[in-house]
Amino acid sequence: MGMTSKLMVGNWKMHGSLAANASLLPDILSGMGGVTCRAAVCVSAVYLAQAQSLLTGSALAWGAQDVSAHESGAYTGEVSAAMLHDFAVRYAIVGHSERRQYHGETDAVVASKAQRALAAGITPIVCVGESQAEREAGQTESVVKRQLAAVIHANGHCISEIVVAYEPVWAIGTGLTASPEQAQAVHAVLRAQLQAATAHADRVSILYGGSMNADNAASLLAQPDVDGGLIGGASLKAPDFLSMLKAASR
Ligand code: 13P
Repeated sequence: MGMTSKLMVGNWKMHGSLAANASLLPDILSGMGGVTCRAAVCVSAVYLAQAQSLLTGSALAWGAQDVSAHESGAYTGEVSAAMLHDFAVRYAIVGHSERRQYHGETDAVVASKAQRALAAGITPIVCVGESQAEREAGQTESVVKRQLAAVIHANGHCISEIVVAYEPVWAIGTGLTASPEQAQAVHAVLRAQLQAATAHADRVSILYGGSMNADNAASLLAQPDVDGGLIGGASLKAPDFLSMLKAASR
């Protein structure tokens, strides 16, 4: 079981605009009275300056959705951890399934990204998760363990500083959610793997992601090893996101 307060992170993916963000972020902030969980939004890199200016000093942290595996240099289009640090980001998602699937990110690349983030003082949110076919083939445990193992091996004792997000690929954006029992079973596997790697595994927040919404958040968050959520679609609507922050604050 994780020992800190719950952590709820919105992953805006490739959504938002200066105008939309300028109303969504204040709408979220104005409803955060009574929220005691940790909360953040991961926005497109082009909106980090806006997030920093609207959220500095508030209870809502901000983060990036990716970070380069390289430190600096001739990598056109990439954003380095040092650049993210310039905008005071607290978190960077690494290894989201959409990046693994559409951008060919391997376990080794994801491990390097986590390393770059940690070296810059940014908490990587390391995403793991099986596809539908892998679940049906009984490979769920072996897939998530392989994905996390790469990050553990590259990051040694720093591993207690990461956040892990279990996101079954079949549940992302589909409206299909892992049942609380399915989520807990995988989270327990991940916790045990972290325990074998660090004496501080209880400090690592293990988030669930995949069609989490205002209706199912409370039952998922009630599981002993579900320490929070990584929320896509429902994080773009202030009332939904706020109701999930409240569910995580109980
Ligand atoms: P949805 O909440 O839209 O299913 O997205 C989950 C996700 O991928 C968060 O990173």
